[in-house]
Amino acid sequence: MRVMVVPDAEAVGRHAAALVADMVAGHAAAGRGTVLGVAAGATPVGLYRQLQAHVATGLDFARVAAFALDEYLGLPPEHPALFARCFQAHLPPCALTVIASRPAGDLAAYCAGYEQAIAAAGGIDLQLLGIGGNGHIGFNEPGSSLGGRTRPVALSAETRAANAGAFAPGEAVPEAAITMGTGTILEARRILLLATGAAKAAAVAAAVEGPLTAGLPASALQLHADATLLLDEAAASRLTRRAYYDAEAALPRRLDS
Ligand code: F6R
Repeated sequence: MRVMVVPDAEAVGRHAAALVADMVAGHAAAGRGTVLGVAAGATPVGLYRQLQAHVATGLDFARVAAFALDEYLGLPPEHPALFARCFQAHLPPCALTVIASRPAGDLAAYCAGYEQAIAAAGGIDLQLLGIGGNGHIGFNEPGSSLGGRTRPVALSAETRAANAGAFAPGEAVPEAAITMGTGTILEARRILLLATGAAKAAAVAAAVEGPLTAGLPASALQLHADATLLLDEAAASRLTRRAYYDAEAALPRRLDS
């Protein structure tokens, strides 16, 4: 895992957008498109806004395909808390595939079809992630199999409380969702996890420095050969090996010079 720390949430969005823009532009120059896995929630909004700015100044996003990481189950199509709405509002226009909040027919077949659609697109080049205060990635809550696939899941009480702000006062947060599994996520060729704010510091420290465990799904990124955690100072504040991570992050520049 590569750990990169920047001063604040604005810088997280800016650096993440530069990484995504580089990849998209590199693929475009090589005559190929880019497949992104995209997270919703508050954290990546700055990244998506910055990407819009890259597109406004010439980045070609036309050959980007994006697959949603997860979605609440049961919400009506017009509900403002739907993750699909977050993508439609903030992602630059691209070939976006969202997860239905009310899929017709058999749920297991729907989830298998979603995995097939990702495979048919050539697999995910770059998976963007946030992290829950309890260490979830996607909606893979603590206890989820590290090899899990796209499937319906129950949301934990902590996650429902943390996400209540997206719903009207007194409105119930859904109890279930569909999420790409941790195993699905680990198949992405690259992973970029963003975390901002002190509320994420304990989960980030456990994911990077704790044991690999289904009890903290983000720790599964320890198994991935090309996973980067891009953090602001507050989210990095409980890491104990900061000097080493900073030296690692600086290494490519030092080897170049
Ligand atoms: C969202 C998702 C979740 C969030 C996480 C952090 O698609 O899968 O894992 O990334 O709950 O949410 P925010 O960014 O709102 O703190």
